[in-house]
Amino acid sequence: MPPPPEDDGSSSARTPLIPPTPPPPGRAVARLHPLPLLVAAAFAASYHLLVAPAPSYYRSLFLSLGSNDTAAAHLHALTLRPHLAGTEANARAAEHVVSALSSLSFPTRVVPYSVLLAYPVHRSLSLSAPGHATTPFALVQDTYPGDPYAAVSAEAVPTFLAYAASGSVAAEAVYANYGRPEDFAYLAARGVDVTGKVVLARYGKVYRGDIVINARKAGAAAAVIYTDAKDYAAGEAFPDGPWMPPTGVQVGSTFKGVGDPTTPMWTSSEGCERVSIPEAMATDDMPGIPALPVSGRDGEAILQLIGGDVAPKDWQGGDGSPVYRLGPGPAVLNLTYIGNETMATIQNVISVIEGKEEPERYIILGNHRDAWTFGAVDPNSGTAALLELAQRFSELQKKGWRPRRTIILCNWDAEEYGLVGSTEWVEENRAMLTSRTVAYLNVDSAVYGAGFYASATPQLDELLKEASKQVQNPDNETQSLYDLWMASDSSSMIKIGRLGGGGSDYSAFVQHVGIPSIDISMGSEYAVYHSLYDDFVWMEKFGDPLFRRHVAVASMWGLVALRLSDEEILPFNYSTYAVELEKGAIDINKRLLGVPVSSSPLQKSIAEFKRAALQMDSEMKTRKVWNPWRNNPLKVRDLNERLMMTERAFTDREGLSGRPWYKHLIYAPSLHDDYGAQVYPGVDDAIQMAERTNTSESWRSVQHEIYRIARVINQASLVLSGGLT
Ligand SMILES: *[C@@H]1O[C@H](CO)[C@@H](O)[C@H](O)[C@H]1NC(C)=O
Ligand SMILES: *[C@@H]1O[C@H](CO)[C@@H](O)[C@H](O)[C@H]1NC(C)=O
Ligand SMILES: *[C@@H]1O[C@H](CO)[C@@H](O)[C@H](O)[C@H]1NC(C)=O
Ligand SMILES: *[C@@H]1O[C@H](CO)[C@@H](O)[C@H](O)[C@H]1NC(C)=O
Repeated sequence: MPPPPEDDGSSSARTPLIPPTPPPPGRAVARLHPLPLLVAAAFAASYHLLVAPAPSYYRSLFLSLGSNDTAAAHLHALTLRPHLAGTEANARAAEHVVSALSSLSFPTRVVPYSVLLAYPVHRSLSLSAPGHATTPFALVQDTYPGDPYAAVSAEAVPTFLAYAASGSVAAEAVYANYGRPEDFAYLAARGVDVTGKVVLARYGKVYRGDIVINARKAGAAAAVIYTDAKDYAAGEAFPDGPWMPPTGVQVGSTFKGVGDPTTPMWTSSEGCERVSIPEAMATDDMPGIPALPVSGRDGEAILQLIGGDVAPKDWQGGDGSPVYRLGPGPAVLNLTYIGNETMATIQNVISVIEGKEEPERYIILGNHRDAWTFGAVDPNSGTAALLELAQRFSELQKKGWRPRRTIILCNWDAEEYGLVGSTEWVEENRAMLTSRTVAYLNVDSAVYGAGFYASATPQLDELLKEASKQVQNPDNETQSLYDLWMASDSSSMIKIGRLGGGGSDYSAFVQHVGIPSIDISMGSEYAVYHSLYDDFVWMEKFGDPLFRRHVAVASMWGLVALRLSDEEILPFNYSTYAVELEKGAIDINKRLLGVPVSSSPLQKSIAEFKRAALQMDSEMKTRKVWNPWRNNPLKVRDLNERLMMTERAFTDREGLSGRPWYKHLIYAPSLHDDYGAQVYPGVDDAIQMAERTNTSESWRSVQHEIYRIARVINQASLVLSGGLT
């Protein structure tokens, strides 16, 4: 951690608006002495421009220093071996990150945690049906012709679903499409009994943990998830093309919670309170039944032997696939999974660039390091981008730059198991992060392919747009990243995602603490996701042949960090937030037609928030007008404090009903898809429940949830306007 503030909490006072002592003779500013007072003051205020370049100088310099070779070299070094969380190989990868950051002379340390991870011990799966010989599946992903990683591929973890329950099941198979609640509802409506069966579902629409949990809730005894060629093999397979080979398997976690399962609401510090492993494995956030992932080829073999009614059209596969039927049977799947749920040590790497004027204000950049296999896309394209931008920050330092606020670079571990490393660190440092963090900037996979994608809490929308106008489109020199981003949407509105989903390490920052955050990448999906083929060769051939996309993401990431760390007044815009709150309210309203619930408390609170945001906008404009006599640093400090703390006000101590870890009442994952971002999640949960039960009590709880959101929005308005009632 950076040292505590030295004195009175008004450290911006240390920025001299007028040089405290006359500059030494012979320097450029010495010539100012004879000038009239006003002009002298004007020049003196730009003292920094003469002795130290302006922030905009360093931003341009930063953009000019991008190096695709640096990014490629880091990616290559990080992806030589599979490096799953808790393994020796991932500890080696941590050493690479530590040594890279230390060699740039940023103080860097490892923050370890002992957490519950899971590894496969035994897996088997065989298929049989009357009149067919029993076929065992190999459950192995093949190396490919010319695979430079063939020798180390044996170090990759065998294909499995982390935290699946150990056990053996032999039962008839039922086909359940994407495994969503509506898919199981359809099966029930068609009279297909899932109880005691093995569900076969395909990847693609919802988080895999939800697929298994939905199967368990429908009564299934086990689940098998396969990769359908229709979704992941639309063209030539790797290594000839970017698509998933027929033997490729998507590995992954099926834990729906966040952080170490043995420390559900607190951090995994040494000697801390823990729930026992069997208790942790028995919660509703765990899959609770045995499950395995299989390849497209194995999935198809199973579908070929499932009989029963023909599945509906949107449940079918692509051209050349067999006709999919619902079952149950006659295909019988015999599945055994034995997992080892064990405490393992993980390593977060934390590196600090201390701020000069406001060291106790943090801009945090984060990316994870652990990977299911080689992790060339997920996540080490992001790690390579982080190290490449750190290299540029170090160049800036050599040219005299010191950030105004502290920049912290974080490389998380065990993200893949359930955002474990970032969550434990945020839980451990919650109170400090709450009082000091300006923003969290996440990059998981930096590069999946072409196109620019961004998600943000809405006060950062404008900053993202402005920054993207300064970064070149890596695929077209005549364009900016902004142009590319605009082109991706025909509505001529920039598309910005929201951070309600549980997909990456921003979760604890946004949803648990209420820190303004962003998440950016080039491309958004790739077919060999979480498979053996996510390697450097795939990246070099298909993801980013010249590594210029890595540089573009690093440029965007670093530029946003520089603006947040160096601008006197934080570049936040809450009018944009008000618009988003309004949009969410319109959606809620549509769902409340004809039911005994009023959304007017919500409408009123949003109207008030809008007023506070407008007032803040004009206050910021006034402060931004250059005026050395009136820009009282304490007032600037107050303004920034309100901008920083407004997001916190959207959190509630109790959290979402039934999901107490999620404190943010505006953004959280949707209940039945951990990847899905939900606006007003508490209201959404309550409406879903009320629509099912349609009791007056259930509609009253919808009303209660509406009041709860209105209350946090009212709190946010007060923080933004800085007034008491
Ligand atoms: C399932 O497979 C295992 C071997 O993997 C075998 O021992 C067992 O008898 C099989 N069960 C059934 C019901 O076929
Ligand atoms: C489970 O993992 C622990 C720690 O890595 C190891 O000591 C133990 O032998 C493993 N158990 C099995 C059954 O593989
Ligand atoms: C690059 O962008 C320019 C300007 O938008 C456009 O005219 C041109 O066709 C683009 N070039 C390529 C190769 O896409
Ligand atoms: C970096 O870019 C240059 C030209 O843009 C290219 O020649 C070089 O091969 C690239 N480096 C890598 C590692 O792709």
